Amino acid sequence: MNRKEFLKNTAVISSALAVGVTASACSLFEEAEMNLCAEHELPVEGFKTFIFNRKKILVRRAGDKLEIISLVCTHKRCTVAFQADERIFVCPCHEGTYDYEGRVVDGPPPSPLRRYAYELRDGRVWVLNQFV
Ligand code: FES
Repeated sequence: MNRKEFLKNTAVISSALAVGVTASACSLFEEAEMNLCAEHELPVEGFKTFIFNRKKILVRRAGDKLEIISLVCTHKRCTVAFQADERIFVCPCHEGTYDYEGRVVDGPPPSPLRRYAYELRDGRVWVLNQFV
């Protein structure tokens, strides 16, 4: 290998490493909080779903408070679906079932669905990257 080929190969390898490091850093990065919506935009009876840190979350009213529930199954991390008519969460992967409160009622999930902390700021709902 002559000097020119060596420099060319070194440049290609350096570029590949830089792309790899950048991709790894992006996949590790998580937002500490996210502005979801104005509180009045949440339905009184009902819910809204959002994506927070690449995971689906469900926001609903519980009296004068809000609940922000992670839709990540506690078994193998599939995304569960909320079936409003039956008031249950169902996981499509291994048929894990959670009740309206997110407690396990059937299947392999080892623990309830997790809930995120939130704050209200000037009438807007902020989800925090911490569980309660
Ligand atoms: S991943 Fe949800 S029940 Fe297995």
